[in-house]
Amino acid sequence: MPEHGHGHGGNMTPEQQKAMIEQEMRLYEQMGKVKYKIAVMSGKGGVGKSTVAANLAEAFQKKGMVTGIMDVDIHGPNIPKLFGVEGKEVMIDNGKMVPVYSKNGIKVMSMGFLIETNDKPIIWRGPQKSGAIKQFMADVAWGDLDVLIIDNPPGTGDEPLTVLQTLPNVDAVVMVTTPNSISQEDVVKCVNMVKMLHIDKIGLVENMAYYVCPHCGEKSEIFGKSQGDEFASQMDIKFLDSLPLTEEVLKSTEEDSTVVDSYVQSELSEKFISIADKIEKEFL
Ligand SMILES: Nc1ncnc2c1ncn2[C@@H]1O[C@H](COP(=O)(O)OP(=O)(O)O)[C@@H](O)[C@H]1O
Ligand SMILES: [Mg+2]
Repeated sequence: MPEHGHGHGGNMTPEQQKAMIEQEMRLYEQMGKVKYKIAVMSGKGGVGKSTVAANLAEAFQKKGMVTGIMDVDIHGPNIPKLFGVEGKEVMIDNGKMVPVYSKNGIKVMSMGFLIETNDKPIIWRGPQKSGAIKQFMADVAWGDLDVLIIDNPPGTGDEPLTVLQTLPNVDAVVMVTTPNSISQEDVVKCVNMVKMLHIDKIGLVENMAYYVCPHCGEKSEIFGKSQGDEFASQMDIKFLDSLPLTEEVLKSTEEDSTVVDSYVQSELSEKFISIADKIEKEFL
């Protein structure tokens, strides 16, 4: 897809300049039809960002908001798998890529759909990644959405930077962390990047904060003491919640669905619903 590797440079031909301006206009038109844009980020990988993004999308959709999810993780696109739509073909309609619908009608677009083999690493340069992400905003038929969740790769690299700088406005950033200090140092960097871009609606989700024994109900903080609340107030961001480590996450993925969809009665599902409510109340 994104074979053009040029950045914004002085050495563009008039045709290239025209194409860039046209894309920018499409991007504004498309993203203007999305009421709320929420970026999910983290300092480190493997903290549960994609899990949180997918379940929040499910929670918003359940609340009756028309929801889409944009997976801009080029090197590890997990969102299709989390909704059981892996390997689905993206149709082109009127020059636009049509998102794939999840079981419950969430519009899904992921680099995973466009990359042919999942077992080959892809090597993309920064400008190519940014170009691909802009295409996801300009050339995907999102239609009218209430909420668009953007699942980012970890850290402060090209992808999250492009997302935050290119979106006409970002309504909320959800920062995901786990209770250990290494992960938190990376989160501080990430929060600072977001603040530098003048986005101040940032919420913190502390994932894998505890485990509840299914037999005796005892709660153990297996990765260390939960400090999410304190940590959020130190960074002057909003603490959203601490989430348990549960088997339902893996089970729901195996069942091609999310926890919010498959384990409605679970503590984790209820927490995702209440986080979506909090985000709506505090940020949107
Ligand atoms: N609360 C949780 N309980 C149990 N497993 C979890 C939880 N959150 C995430 N996981 C698992 O941890 C792994 C990493 O999660 P993922 O959402 O892919 O993280 P990231 O997107 O930050 O790299 C996945 O295998 C996922 O199923
Ligand atoms: Mg991920």
